[in-house]
Amino acid sequence: MKAVVIRTFGPAEGLAVVDLPTPVPATGQVLITTEAIGVGGVDAVIRRGTIGGYGFEAGHVPGSEVAGTVTAVGHGVDSSWIGRRVWAFTGFGGGYAEQASVRVEDVLPLPPDLSSVDAVTLGSSGVVAHFALAHARFSPGESVLIRGAAGSIGVTVVQLAARGGAGAVAVTTSSADRGDRLRGLGATDVLDRSGNGDADAPAGYDVIVDVIAGADLPSFFDRLKPNGRMVAVGVVGGHPPADFGMQLMTAFRKSLSFATFSADTVSEPDRRAVRTEQFAAAGRGELRTVVHEILPLHDAVLAHRKMDAGEVFGRIVLAP
Ligand SMILES: NC(=O)c1ccc[n+]([C@@H]2O[C@H](COP(=O)([O-])OP(=O)(O)OC[C@H]3O[C@@H](n4cnc5c(N)ncnc54)[C@H](OP(=O)(O)O)[C@@H]3O)[C@@H](O)[C@H]2O)c1
Repeated sequence: MKAVVIRTFGPAEGLAVVDLPTPVPATGQVLITTEAIGVGGVDAVIRRGTIGGYGFEAGHVPGSEVAGTVTAVGHGVDSSWIGRRVWAFTGFGGGYAEQASVRVEDVLPLPPDLSSVDAVTLGSSGVVAHFALAHARFSPGESVLIRGAAGSIGVTVVQLAARGGAGAVAVTTSSADRGDRLRGLGATDVLDRSGNGDADAPAGYDVIVDVIAGADLPSFFDRLKPNGRMVAVGVVGGHPPADFGMQLMTAFRKSLSFATFSADTVSEPDRRAVRTEQFAAAGRGELRTVVHEILPLHDAVLAHRKMDAGEVFGRIVLAP
């Protein structure tokens, strides 16, 4: 089968299309012939080597979510899975391939009205968006700022905050055009990447969901209201300065909270329940999936160049 591997960590050109043996599903696994592969921000973070400490090695097949049809099952898995259209979480890798073998617990049947492309656009990021807001103890009427809203996680946080009755849904983004598209998803205030540029935007927020981190993260503590909560879900802009906590301590009297959030800490049944609900909502058209572009699998380098150039709005999908 064709697959894409990270030959060298760094620029997108380190990705290469190779022939690999078709995986054999192990005990408890299913084999999926992929129709759609989500290109996530985390794939780019891994490829760049930003989270090299996790032990990824050259030859790693990136890609954490796929959708397609089950074609074989391993020992202990009900053969009724064969022929079913499914979405699957492949973990930190294994997705950029024509076939993926996945633990059956990480596989979810697709509703008939949801395409494979839409499924990989929403499957992982939607769950992060949902639980990030829950982790921030967001409640209706509160104001929310989403930093890095134009990515796959952000576009869903915007929609969930708006649907959840937020008093304001502010976003940071890099252009007016992207801002308009975010308004179309429910954003009420559009800010530039440093959090400025809209005189009517709230001066402070109850909740900030931050996909970016990086050097500017501490400056956003100033935008939290008293008792405000910031939840960091990503490191698209790299790690924050080592002393970023000092800004929180300096604002001691505002009782601010900072938390990281990883979907890894959510139980599988809870993730599955939210994903099932979101897939159904997307099928009914109540939750919008935002597909930037569909590219063939062999264009993975191009997909990652686009990610690196910051062109992507929502999610790029690879189709074998
Ligand atoms: N917490 C979890 O459980 C979990 C799960 C999966 C992934 N992740 C993490 O989530 C991140 C990827 O999320 P994603 O796919 O939604 O993001 P993304 O698409 O990679 O980026 C989101 C947006 O951030 C903006 N941006 C890019 N570089 C920036 C910079 N240097 N400074 C400020 N803004 C910048 C861009 O929008 P504009 O150009 O419009 O500003 C971009 O569209 C990764 O760090 C990944 O590790 C977390």
